[in-house]
Formats: sequence, structure tokens, C-alpha cells
Amino acid sequence: MQPTILTIFGVTGDLANRKLFPALYALFVRRVLPKELRIVGFARKENTDETFRAIVTESIKKKNPSIEIAPEFLNLFSYVKGELDDEASYTRLSETLEQIDRNILKTSSLHLFFLSVPPNLYETIARCLARPGLMKRESGESRLLLEKPFGRDTETAEKLDALLGSLFDEKQIFRIDHYLAKETVQNILTFRFSNTLFEKIWNKDHIESIEILFHEKIDLGTRGNFYTDVGALRDVGQNHILQMLALVAMDSPTLFTTDGIREERAKVLEALRAPTAGEISQFVRAEYEGADTESGLGAGTETFFRVTAFLENERFSGVPFVLESGKALADGKVEIRVKFKKEIKGLCAIGEEHCDRQNILVFRIQPDEAITLSLWVKEPGFAGKMKEQTLAYTYPKDAKESFPDAYEKVFFDAMSGDLTLFASSREVKACWKFITPILDGWKTLPLRLYKKGSDPREIK
Ligand code: BG6
Repeated sequence: MQPTILTIFGVTGDLANRKLFPALYALFVRRVLPKELRIVGFARKENTDETFRAIVTESIKKKNPSIEIAPEFLNLFSYVKGELDDEASYTRLSETLEQIDRNILKTSSLHLFFLSVPPNLYETIARCLARPGLMKRESGESRLLLEKPFGRDTETAEKLDALLGSLFDEKQIFRIDHYLAKETVQNILTFRFSNTLFEKIWNKDHIESIEILFHEKIDLGTRGNFYTDVGALRDVGQNHILQMLALVAMDSPTLFTTDGIREERAKVLEALRAPTAGEISQFVRAEYEGADTESGLGAGTETFFRVTAFLENERFSGVPFVLESGKALADGKVEIRVKFKKEIKGLCAIGEEHCDRQNILVFRIQPDEAITLSLWVKEPGFAGKMKEQTLAYTYPKDAKESFPDAYEKVFFDAMSGDLTLFASSREVKACWKFITPILDGWKTLPLRLYKKGSDPREIK
């Protein structure tokens, strides 16, 4: 990998603390970071290199208290204090990066800018970065990494997209959806297109429905303020869930290249049919009891939704995709469940009336990643009974421990310049085109309430 300077905006925020620093350290331990690397923190708060390194240390130790962090890793970090909307601060940042290039790396390195800040700051920061020495340089590449959400509806997303498009080249923009970087989510394409068994039956003639379930046991904690006016549909529906839908429903790209895969994901997302007003009024939108008093959640924000999507394409027309997510539910589980049509004339055991058995293929992303297929087999013995058995691909325990976390993959790919697991402008727009009418339609509909710890099937 080429020499790199990674600049992180918002280093004192929740994401940097919980995910980014531990992921960088894991990459360091795996020895897959660029040999020549520097990491610069850029934020408003007063910090020195030392206090910044202490923040990094604390964040890594929170995950693993007994860990001895290598000083060589901490020495990679330095800090620049700056206001995010102040030209002079960006001049200081650009001088710092130039100095690191000139004096330490001795080359025009790759400059990566990771925005781990509230999305309402994207526009300001992007404009400030679009100046000589930062995202625009005479020699050396620069890339911008953005966390979702990209906008809050079709209109704002298009505005942000147009701005980014006017300032930067599309190849410089890495729109993160960390679910695309999860192992089992990456496995969907391998599994579908490397096993000839499935492709022929992967369509409306053989698939009854597909459920994408994103259940979280955790509640909002103290994140109610952040979540207000965002809600579950924007938080995970517009991005993670629709990206999983894209992978499970897309056609095989002619070539397994970055452009080929992103093109097929975009095509399937563009085939999402806009739901009718009647359908929208049937979708479930709910909030758990106590979310407002406990977490500070403002009025009218859903923490649970159930939406049914349809694709207008040859392969899947008429097949319901049930998309469901919620916080504070009985169990934490993220699964894609592909339910095959029942065989009407299925074999019946003697004395049995119902023999319309179903096969279900499950991609489990949380808690224990796995791919399982339920099958029917004869029970040993004289009675000739049948039972459901599961064929499972689970990851060996030691392999699981060495799984790269999604953010490790995000950093690794951004440093290598691989855009495959990042959302394209087309994908983001297509997702909003499906989600925005639902958000609009919901404005006049009552929000239902559910008890913390509810079984999602009981939320109606
Ligand atoms: C984030 C959402 O994108 O994904 C959170 O903002 C959600 O609300 C999280 O909890 C889930 O990610 P993971 O990797 O912990 O399953």
C-alpha cells in the first residue's frame, strides 16, 4: 500500500471511540496497514498529540482492558486543533500534511479524509477540503470517506451529491455502509454465484418471500437526541437493509469488478417500486415506551418499522421483501431469510395431512455469523416421519476471532482504493427514492407504541 496520511474529523466522537481506533489498532496488529502511515486527528477541542494519544489508548483499552498498546502505533497519531468552518484551520491542516509528506514520509502520500462528524457538517467541510493542498493536489491522490446518512430525503441527498460531484471526482468519494463490509454480507455474492445450485431457482417462480430482519436488543441509551428526526427507517433502512436487499436480489455482474458489482446493485435498487399510499398506511411504524423520558428522544420518531418492498423486474416481480428493524427488542439478530415456495405435492408421511414443507435459506449476520439451510429428512425408525434439519455453515471459532471487523475492511479498502464495498451515488439516490415517499406518507400517521423487550411479531 502506498504511503498514507489518514485525517480523521471528529476524533472525540462516539464512532471514532467505539469503532475507528480499535479497528486501526487491529489492522496494525495484523500488519496490513501501509508501512508509511500517519494519522492526524482534526477537531475543535483543545488537545495535544499526547492527550490525543491518551484518547486513542483509552478507546482501544475499553474494548480490551488488558491489551498493551505498542508505542509505535501511538506514535503514528498527531493532533491539529481546528474549527470545522474556519479557513485558517484548514490552512494549518494542509501545512501539517505537507510537512509530514516532506519531512517524514518523503513523498506525496495518499491523503485520506474520514468525516466522523454529524452529517449536517458535511457540506461545510467538503467546501473547505476542496482547496489546493487538501482534496485537490498537484501530486498525490486524495480521498474522502463519509459515513451515512447522506442527506435525509431525496432532495437533500441530491443536493449533497451535486455539491460533492461538483467539488470532487466520483472515484474520490467513499460512501461508507459498514454492513457491506461485514463478512457474511460479503459472502452473499460468493454463496449465490459460486454454487450453481441456487441461481436457477433464485427467482419469483421458486421464492415465496425474502425477509430482512435487523433486530437490536439495545435501546437508544443516551442517543435519543441524535436519533430524533432520524428514526429507524433513515438510520438503518435507507442504507444497511436496502444494501442487503441489493446483494440478495441483484443479477450476476458480467464481470466481478468494482464497476460491475456496483452497477448491478444500483440496477436492483432502481427497480424498487414506489409504495402506494394504501401500502404505506399498512406499514408499521412504532416507538418503544419510555424512549422519550429515558433517552431524550423527541416526539414522533420511530424506533421500529416494518415495510414491504417489491421489485419491478423480471426476476422478482411480485415477491414481497419484508424489511423490519427495531431497537429495544427481545433479541438482537440480523438475518436475511430466503423462503422458498412450498411444494404443494410434497411427499407426505403416512397419516400426515400437511406436507407443504418449506426450505429456508438464512444469511445470519448477527449475533453468530452463519449461512443455514433448512431441509426435510426422514426420521430414523419405523414410523416414516419427517423432520426439519438444518445444514449450517458456521465459521470455525478461531476463524471468527480473527474476523476483520467491518471498519477494518472499510479502512483497508479505502487505503487500497477499492470502491466495491462503498455505495455509489446512483445507489444512494435509488434508496432515497424508495424511502422518501414512506417518510412523507408517515407524517400524518400515528406512531404505535411497544414495550421494551417485545417480540417483533407482536408489534402490529
Ligand atoms: C449504525 C446505526 O449504522 O448501525 C446504529 O446508526 C446501529 O443505530 C448500528 O446500532 C448497528 O451496527 P452493528 O455493526 O453494531 O450491527
